[in-house]
Amino acid sequence: MPADSFDGRTRELADGNQIPVLGLGVWQVPNGRECVNAVLWALELGYRHIDTAQAYGNEASVGEALRRSGIPREQVFITTKFQPSRRNAATEVEGSLKRLGVEYVDLYLVHWPAGGPTRAWPTMEQAHGLGYARSIGVSNFNVTELAEMMAGATVPPVVDQVNLSPFTYRRALIDESRARNVEVEAYSPLGTGRHLANGTVNRIASRTGRTPAQVLLRWCLQHDLVVLPKSTHRPRIEENAQIFEFVLSPDDMAELDSLDRTDGTGVALERKWWR
Ligand code: A2P
Repeated sequence: MPADSFDGRTRELADGNQIPVLGLGVWQVPNGRECVNAVLWALELGYRHIDTAQAYGNEASVGEALRRSGIPREQVFITTKFQPSRRNAATEVEGSLKRLGVEYVDLYLVHWPAGGPTRAWPTMEQAHGLGYARSIGVSNFNVTELAEMMAGATVPPVVDQVNLSPFTYRRALIDESRARNVEVEAYSPLGTGRHLANGTVNRIASRTGRTPAQVLLRWCLQHDLVVLPKSTHRPRIEENAQIFEFVLSPDDMAELDSLDRTDGTGVALERKWWR
């Protein structure tokens, strides 16, 4: 794969910043060599978007890989997320910047609506105002939570990052977010690996001459979602980026859409891990 085959694929957020539509997710990748390697390989292979979080504990490795890659800071889109059981997002982002070894993150998200959807937003706005985060947004927010927090926001969120795949195709959440100019990002687009064995996905993969992972990721792209697959294996990281040179037919898309088990919900998560 030519290294530059997709690194220019971006979308404009509501605040005018550009976001690459494919990013490497590093949830559940331990801090250390495994994470450094995954990020380094992704950057070598043309990824220009890395998605980490304070709660993942691996920001330092993301930063190390970024430095070792030699790619100029401004060419890589870095997302981190506020651990919302902490008090102050503006204070916490300073720790992230130190661990990452950067002066700003491109996107800073409230990881989940702990303590209610509005609680973290004033200090998120502060982080933005101080220039520590170029864009700010949320993750795991429902339609109703989005509405409630946006009603009181001075700086509106530009992203909601949610668990999305054909099996969790939360149409109401996607539609409502778009109506509010909130870009939707898909995390766990492979169902943390579980969806790769599905019969329909495999049939479409055979039909199109692609892999099941590529079919699932391409489905996200064709629904205009920013997509964040995770892998720590170089061949898979490469495979997951080869999703720009084929198209799923309307029939393939309809078949994948019909796998939805959420009934088109506006709910971001079926089970909340916080109160
Ligand atoms: P690994 O990290 O060992 O490569 P999700 O992005 O939905 O969270 O899914 C991540 C899971 O899917 C991880 O277990 C990852 O394994 C696996 N995975 C990622 N890409 C591929 C791929 N192209 N083929 C097979 N498994 C993959």
